[in-house]
Amino acid sequence: MSAVSSPKSPEAVTLESVDLNPYIGTEVLGLDLSQPLDPATIAAMRKLWLDRTVLVFRDQDITQEELLRFTGYFGEVGERGLSATVYPSTAGRVLPNIMLISNIRENGKTIGALPDGEMNFHHDMIQTEKPHIASVLYAREVPSHGGDTCFASGHAAYDTLDPEVRSKLEGKRVFHTYQYGRTKRGDDSGTYDLSDQSAHPAFRTHEENGRKAIYVNRLMSVGVEGMDAKEGEALLNAVFDHAEKPEFVYCHKWKVGDLVIWDNRNSMHARTDFPSDQRRLMWRSQVRGTHKPF
Ligand SMILES: [Fe+2]
Repeated sequence: MSAVSSPKSPEAVTLESVDLNPYIGTEVLGLDLSQPLDPATIAAMRKLWLDRTVLVFRDQDITQEELLRFTGYFGEVGERGLSATVYPSTAGRVLPNIMLISNIRENGKTIGALPDGEMNFHHDMIQTEKPHIASVLYAREVPSHGGDTCFASGHAAYDTLDPEVRSKLEGKRVFHTYQYGRTKRGDDSGTYDLSDQSAHPAFRTHEENGRKAIYVNRLMSVGVEGMDAKEGEALLNAVFDHAEKPEFVYCHKWKVGDLVIWDNRNSMHARTDFPSDQRRLMWRSQVRGTHKPF
């Protein structure tokens, strides 16, 4: 009688991991992302990601193609948010769906987007109808200190939000807008595009885990539908101040070779300041949004 081998089920793989904050962020150990992952490992990784929102992989040495292959494990690879014209030809070879985030300047021009300094909390591409499900950052060059990316759990913030604030915003839609290049609320530098506006529920229900998360952010959310501007601004500020509390936030201190993927539906992220005279280069990819947020 010959032995029949059955395919490995997702339950067969247990990833070695360490949680980074009670609410958000887990480091995954022992995976080499330069190699293709088998379906059971991918399933286990996706499950962990849905549970923990942010996954960190250290010491990776990967190509742009390998970054896109990894990104594809989480859905369809999405287009980068910024126009290709942002990138001067000196950027070298950059695959179409990879965005450079960098302060490196060649011939007086930055080779990537969002070059300098601190950046307010935001959800990537929330100003669009179907924002990206996930974003991935891979560190190529990092400053000696600063430039951390901080991730805030939208579920933890929603679950603990002041009930009065929550009831006033429950069921309401919020407007979002973004000027490319803007890094702080109220800053009107950057390129303005009128098509970059959206309205989404103040609290988003995650399609895959069914939980609600706050879905407004300091950088891009500008008003509450059907509400007086002043009242809306006060409520939004109350949500921002609550959601950004340190207990809900994991701040990632980058080392070269770190790769981080986050769920853009139930988390927002921000960047801390860093020395402008030190080079920082990240590759970013993204997973296309499949739903209008609800
Ligand atoms: Fe971002």
